[in-house]
Amino acid sequence: MTDENSQPRAESSRTLLVRLVREYVRPYWRRMLLAVFFMVIAAGGDAALARLMQPILDDVFDKQDRDMLVLVTILVVVVTLVKGAATYGQTVLMAFVGQRIIADLQTKLFGHVIRFDLAFFHNTATGKLVSRMTNDINLMRNAVANTLTGLIKDSLSLVFLVGVMFWMDWKLALLAFVVFPIAIFPIVRIGRRLRKVSTSALDELGRFTARLHEAFQGVRHIKAYNMEAFEAERTEGLIESVFRLIYKALRTRAAASPIMETLGGVFIAAVIFYGGSQIIDNELTTGEFFAFIAAMLMAYRPLKALANLNANLQEGLAATQRVFGILDTEPRIVSEPGAPALAVNGGEITFDDVSFSYDTGTAALDGVSLNVPAGNTVALVGPSGAGKSTILNMLPRFYDADSGQVTIDGTDVRSVDITSLRNAIGLVSQETVLFDDSVRANIAYGRRGASEAEIIAAAEGADAHAFITELPDGYDTLIGEHGARLSGGQRQRLSIARAMLKDAPILLLDEATSALDPETERQIQHSLRHLMQDRTTLVIAHRLTTVQEADIIYFIKDGRVAESGSHQSLMAKDGAYARLYALELVPASEMGDASAASADNADD
Ligand SMILES: Nc1ncnc2c1ncn2[C@@H]1O[C@H](COP(=O)(O)OP(=O)(O)OP(=O)(O)O)[C@@H](O)[C@H]1O
Ligand SMILES: [Mg+2]
Repeated sequence: MTDENSQPRAESSRTLLVRLVREYVRPYWRRMLLAVFFMVIAAGGDAALARLMQPILDDVFDKQDRDMLVLVTILVVVVTLVKGAATYGQTVLMAFVGQRIIADLQTKLFGHVIRFDLAFFHNTATGKLVSRMTNDINLMRNAVANTLTGLIKDSLSLVFLVGVMFWMDWKLALLAFVVFPIAIFPIVRIGRRLRKVSTSALDELGRFTARLHEAFQGVRHIKAYNMEAFEAERTEGLIESVFRLIYKALRTRAAASPIMETLGGVFIAAVIFYGGSQIIDNELTTGEFFAFIAAMLMAYRPLKALANLNANLQEGLAATQRVFGILDTEPRIVSEPGAPALAVNGGEITFDDVSFSYDTGTAALDGVSLNVPAGNTVALVGPSGAGKSTILNMLPRFYDADSGQVTIDGTDVRSVDITSLRNAIGLVSQETVLFDDSVRANIAYGRRGASEAEIIAAAEGADAHAFITELPDGYDTLIGEHGARLSGGQRQRLSIARAMLKDAPILLLDEATSALDPETERQIQHSLRHLMQDRTTLVIAHRLTTVQEADIIYFIKDGRVAESGSHQSLMAKDGAYARLYALELVPASEMGDASAASADNADD
């Protein structure tokens, strides 16, 4: 990656900063204004204290003026008090604005990112997103808060203090302006280098976060495969590279202070030599000289802050650029302006010569045509990677077809309002997705604002009510992360209940391949059959019963429909489906099961 790719250029730096201030600081301009007021007072306090050195030395120490002693003492107390109060006020106000910027940005960013296409999430590491939402936003706040404080308070302090210096001895003060540009040069270079390092450090940090997620989530498999040591080593590698990069950034940053200090030392030596000679020649009073030195020493802190300001600002701008980059990305799959709501009438699904490739270039669908008549159940079967899940993805527009058309009741899914489209579709997927919340909340996710009675009815429909009431807190039981406190079958029945509650006319079902015991299997089958009633269902079938009950079966292979027809007709054809049926769909142990299920079916 080149320097230019990861860092804003001078022109865009300004644009970024302007946008950051306009969109995220402006809402708090009243507080900012008050903060600026306090900054002016605090900066003035610094200069006043330095200026007081002159009467202290000349009038009190030299001339032994008692009235002046009292006056100066009172003044020092007053100035420090006012300055302290102003500093407090300014700090609190800036802290408020800074934290508000974080909160506002996080709210906006999350609300934006969550609308992105599925493709975005498949192509972006979770850790990277987490890092954008936390580290980057923190750097942005830093940039704004420190920059504004620095620009206003520190530069004002500096101006006032330099004013005092000129007031005391202008020739001496001019000397300062020779050193200043020399000091700035290395600081600018350090800032540039810091930006580069901090970008790579954040990337690594994002990968580290992703690593942690992955490891802790997959801890069962890590143990089963005895991979603890391997994982620990792999993670250590990442930790070490994060360490190296952050250490490098800190080392770069650390160079800034000593450079300034060394330059400052040389400067002070020069001042002492010149000022000392002036006093000896009676050109300068002791008080004036010490007020000058005091102002100069006090000027060191704001000067240092201003020197660091550029580094902070650049770090913040790099983060700002990344965050704005995300905010400026719009989801590609959206409703056309003014698109009408989907009117479902039976829910007939048609794929007409649909082809699709993922961003990676994998051709997943190649001219798929299929039809699910209203109210029917169509099963998709075929080898792994054939494109079955991809077919399902086309309907709620998780992805859009590259060519061909997907219609519901004759209407192209791309021509209708996407919210109404997704409202019409229920989805029960291979992996059940549950949230770390109560059973009730997890079912209610199917339809916001559902009543308690509706939730219970949905649970009953999914054969989940019985086990839910046996849980320690019934519907209020917290199920743990990803439903960790439930069995596999219970998790599936909860997600069936959720779809039940949604009560959408079209149902997409991606049957779980994970083996469940025959009893649980039967229960789930029963719940599913109930769910599929009176709905147009497109199901990816891994179970014999599902296939046998389907009205039509499509055998998918290499992104194409290889065969289609009823179970009987496909068996009679003795083609690919018949072979798959013999090999995979009917493991010997399930033969008994299958007949039981068919008998079950006859009862219906
Ligand atoms: N998000 C993705 N990005 C890139 N390629 C993908 C993505 N999802 C799937 N693919 C590829 O598309 C092809 C079809 O995948 P798909 O998930 O539709 O298969 P499937 O028939 O559902 O398989 P399975 O029965 O194993 O679930 C595969 O080659 C797969 O590698
Ligand atoms: Mg699949």
